[in-house]
Amino acid sequence: MGKYQPINPKLPHLIHGADYNPDQWLDRPDILADDLRLMKLANCNAMSVGIFAWAALEPEEGKFNFEWLDRILDQLAADGIYAVLATPSGARPAWLAQKYPEVLRVDADRRRILYGNRHNHCYTSPVYREKVKIINTKLAERYKEHPALLVWHVSNEYGGECHCDLCQEKFREWLQVKYQTLDALNHAWWTAFWSHTYTDWSQIQSPAPHGEQSIHGLALDWKRFVTHQTIDFFKAEKAPLKAITPEIPVTTNFMGTYPGLNYWKFAKELDVISWDSYPRWHGEKADWQTAAEVAFVHDLNRSLKQGKPFMLMESTPSMTNWQIVAKKKRPGMHLLSSLQAVAHGADTVQYFQWRKGRGGAEKFHGAVVDHVGHEQTRVFRDVAEVGAVLKELDPVLGTTVEAEVALLFDWENRWALEEAMGPRQEKKYEETCHRHYFPFWSRGVPVDVINADQDFSRYRLLVAPMLYMVRPGVGERLADFVAKGGTLVATYWSGIVDENDLCFLGGVPGPLRKTLGIWVEEIDALYDGEVNYVSMLDGNALGLKGEYKARELCDVLHLETAQSLAVYKEDYYAGRPALTVNRFGQGEAYYLASRNEDCFLGDFYHCLIEKNNIKRVLPAELPVGVTAQVRTDGRQEFVFVSNFTPENQVVDLKDQEFKELRTGERIRGSLTLASYGVKILARNRT
Ligand code: GLA
Ligand code: ZN
Repeated sequence: MGKYQPINPKLPHLIHGADYNPDQWLDRPDILADDLRLMKLANCNAMSVGIFAWAALEPEEGKFNFEWLDRILDQLAADGIYAVLATPSGARPAWLAQKYPEVLRVDADRRRILYGNRHNHCYTSPVYREKVKIINTKLAERYKEHPALLVWHVSNEYGGECHCDLCQEKFREWLQVKYQTLDALNHAWWTAFWSHTYTDWSQIQSPAPHGEQSIHGLALDWKRFVTHQTIDFFKAEKAPLKAITPEIPVTTNFMGTYPGLNYWKFAKELDVISWDSYPRWHGEKADWQTAAEVAFVHDLNRSLKQGKPFMLMESTPSMTNWQIVAKKKRPGMHLLSSLQAVAHGADTVQYFQWRKGRGGAEKFHGAVVDHVGHEQTRVFRDVAEVGAVLKELDPVLGTTVEAEVALLFDWENRWALEEAMGPRQEKKYEETCHRHYFPFWSRGVPVDVINADQDFSRYRLLVAPMLYMVRPGVGERLADFVAKGGTLVATYWSGIVDENDLCFLGGVPGPLRKTLGIWVEEIDALYDGEVNYVSMLDGNALGLKGEYKARELCDVLHLETAQSLAVYKEDYYAGRPALTVNRFGQGEAYYLASRNEDCFLGDFYHCLIEKNNIKRVLPAELPVGVTAQVRTDGRQEFVFVSNFTPENQVVDLKDQEFKELRTGERIRGSLTLASYGVKILARNRT
């Protein structure tokens, strides 16, 4: 392995900048001039420009005004600052909605929205696509040679769905391509249920609160279609940009684990992944718990392009304005949370927003420059510090994370799982994935977060919580992974349905049955607060002892070729297997039959890490709330040791010697981290 190219080789440094809305300040040239001075002071090298600027760029249909943007881009370039230039489709001008109501979205209840807000256009409307094509073509033509142009920021946070007649028609066309015949569709959707057999394509409608909700195959296909149609719209947006500026990378900002779009499909159409991160620091959860959840999403975004560095397109320099309580970042947290993204593979730290506007819904959202208008603020100093640190991190640029462990977080599985009725209505898929991720994060073990279509052979340990849906080929690939020496961990409520959400016949866990060596006869659901216990068997191969609490979901299973490592303690399944292992080919497949308390997951994964010699970033146990992550080019390693607690922490380095990247200081023995402190250590790979 080596290094990835910089996102755009024009700028061979980590990127630091913010969403910049000069279109809100066109009558204040003094403020626009001061912005440039402040950007340099804040150590910014790229600003995201024009995200919601359509009305300023095309004040009347067909009448364009680019002069203001020319000036801004020229001034940025003159100061050595680049532009992440946006296409403006995320919010449309009033004239457009007034003249062409078809661009306005129709909600699931079949009501067309009024003009307003943003992010709510129809993804099918030919008029909207045409208008977007015109403005995108003009932007690309005008700025194709501009020295400031660095990255295309297409639209903003695509999301939602439209149920208008145009979209319904496209949905039916998409279904016809997929199923060819109504017979095939009726079979896949199990429409004999409640007399739902369709006899004409025109009878098919998207799900609605006052309409269809009972055909899960339909619901699943509608979600797939929404992803397809959103990507189709994105591709239409991208086409003129790629035709005119083929070398400029294109991205659109994702929203973490946003449920409405399958980002695995979307990722293929992007040159570089970017996402917007707004964790609730200092909230109800401990900061280190929040940190692990954000780390999970960073790892997902890196994995979406198999390790290629991503962009942290948005984060707040201080607070949001839309969370129930908008608490400020405590001293240290801004640098720590910014470097956390870098530690997991981001080559940028960017913010929403550069300057607070005077009006509108985001006037109190955190910004680099506050209404006071100068740089003498805590937030501005924090931001400038991040910029200064990023300047020292050139060696990290383009490096990536090499993980031996992968955790499966699969959108289609999640859609099907959450739609299913029973055995408990609340499935907690994402939360379960977080719980299985945490033991690795807290031990400084790098993890990729992948979906079921990825190449498993890169990993040694694969964790697949609640793999309810097993699409064709996945069972075989998992079997192959284990047979060749991999370790698989599967859990309760797995191997239940196929890609159409049709239950497997012949025994759960369906295509995973042989690999896991078990048959699950029943799954029991416990009420909130009810507990069973999982007792480790004497002399079990993992060496675990004692008992652990199990809650909510408990499989009752039969051993086929697997062995039991633990049994249930109570109820009618007392004494039945609760944790099993199946030796399969060269590898092992574990089955966690119940939703066990976190300390079980900690002890269990600790054993698997040790047993499989999975590399940890640092040799010793880390204090609670501290993690270590590593980026590498295969030769040098950059270890980010981060303290997500408000207390000082001491980290044991055993006999390893490091150089602190920023100061060059040699470090041996132990490392002291201040409250919310972070240090970057360099070492050569041995
Ligand atoms: C989103 C949007 C931004 C801004 C921020 C506020 O991420 O993309 O335009 O509204 O939220 O947190
Ligand atoms: Zn529509």
